[in-house]
Amino acid sequence: MAQQEDVFKKIVSHAKEYGFVFQSSEIYDGLAAVYDYGQNGVELKNNIKRYWWDAMTLLHENIVGIDSAIFMHPTIWKASGHVDAFNDPLIDNRDSKKRYRADVLIEEQLAKYDEKIEKEVAKAAKRFGESFDEALYRQTNPRVCDHVARRDALHERFAKAMNDNDLEELKQIILDEGIVCPISGTKNWTDVRQFNLMFKTEMGSTADGSMTVYLRPETAQGIFVNYLNVQKTGRMRLPFGIAQIGKAFRNEIVARQFIFRMREFEQMEMQFFVRPGEELKWFDQWKQWRLAWHKALGLGDEKYRFHDHDKLAHYANAATDIEFKMPFGFKEVEGVHSRTNFDLSQHEKFSGKNIKYFDPELNESYVPYVIETSIGVDRMFLSVLCSSYEEQALPNGETRVVLHLPEALAPVKCAVMPLVKKDGLPDKAREIVNDLKFDFATHYDEKDSIGKRYRRQDAIGTPFCITVDHQTLEDNTVTLRERDSMEQTRVNVADLHRLIHGRVSLNALLRKLG
Ligand code: GAP
Repeated sequence: MAQQEDVFKKIVSHAKEYGFVFQSSEIYDGLAAVYDYGQNGVELKNNIKRYWWDAMTLLHENIVGIDSAIFMHPTIWKASGHVDAFNDPLIDNRDSKKRYRADVLIEEQLAKYDEKIEKEVAKAAKRFGESFDEALYRQTNPRVCDHVARRDALHERFAKAMNDNDLEELKQIILDEGIVCPISGTKNWTDVRQFNLMFKTEMGSTADGSMTVYLRPETAQGIFVNYLNVQKTGRMRLPFGIAQIGKAFRNEIVARQFIFRMREFEQMEMQFFVRPGEELKWFDQWKQWRLAWHKALGLGDEKYRFHDHDKLAHYANAATDIEFKMPFGFKEVEGVHSRTNFDLSQHEKFSGKNIKYFDPELNESYVPYVIETSIGVDRMFLSVLCSSYEEQALPNGETRVVLHLPEALAPVKCAVMPLVKKDGLPDKAREIVNDLKFDFATHYDEKDSIGKRYRRQDAIGTPFCITVDHQTLEDNTVTLRERDSMEQTRVNVADLHRLIHGRVSLNALLRKLG
């Protein structure tokens, strides 16, 4: 685990050193849990967003996009339940004066039991070798059985406390489990309190009678309140979806792990409107479609798992997380939620407007049910970055740091390099750049040794380096170096476009999804 934490630290400094992610307001000592994306980060982020947007709007003829405002009428947040129920249970340690989310402390305790179980199993597997029967060992080994029983009991108690909103019980669990503050090491805890996560601000001058508005904590409500506008103007029929990418804001108290939990972040959300009674069928379908979208990137199928919710949000009748194996464990990257007709019904009630859908096939009107897929751009970015980072020992004794980014997501697709800065090689290299730049993000680099230039491109995940040498001037061929294998092949300049396009285009990725 400590080793994984070291790797994570390296990834965070790499992200800064190579222009992916900077701490916001850094020269003023930073603003906690707020980050800026640099020159490479913004390209990677845009490519992730494009992949999502195209997968939604190009591959599904019944999904369209919108871009709604961040500010919305404050009653929307009353109707959605966010004013009353968008809370985190917080607990303070009196000695360290540090504040924690009570639910997160307990989840970490659950993860500790899991770690103990896996350690026992791994030890036994080593001891017994080939003859090891893992399933039997898990069922019969007394130590494993004891850990499993404790974990299951804790899990059940925790789920009940969360469902009942029982803050006293959450504190009692923390005390009974002997959970200590990681800073002070003590169990000197305060009571658990609820804390609303929405940021408030004022709209209009006080003289006019200003109004308290919220920075939206999710983009979804912008979709709900526009659903009928889109349905009518787009002549959409159920089932249909509305997709949106945009900023969301949450006053996260425990903001940790770099861009995993931020106060300002970006979401890619899609609400899929369906007939009542059909929602669970669509929920299963969207679970599969969304997992396929992740897996098509080739980051490793074993890095994903579903985690079904024990505590359903106030609006849901089924919910699951798609978790990704980060260096700090399996963590939620995306949620798929069956939100029933809760939000639309609430907006109908609070606005007093009829927002029912008229179903021409059934010849009746009803409030549609909704399946939501909601993914954080920044978490997706983090999962791509973490799984792509590698420190590779080379046969010549050197180490290279390489980002094996999915080629379609890489910020720069190819770098063109004259072998030397003379003999007309830079001119030829520029000529190639000037041709490729219309289709691919292309870098020109003539500084330092060719080895150093390769390393620089490896570090930002550029899939191809094109080297122009003296032979190029004779036969119009260049070397095409591949990032992952470092293999170099001699190819004709005329073939570059086709070769690169076949590998880096989003099209190839989208085709995997059918
Ligand atoms: N509309 C439903 C909704 O917002 P959520 O599970 O609260 O559901 C959806 O958030 C996704 O947004 C999460 O899976 C995560 O990827 C991202 N997200 C939520 N809070 C975040 C935060 N503080 N920082 C970064 N990403 C966050």
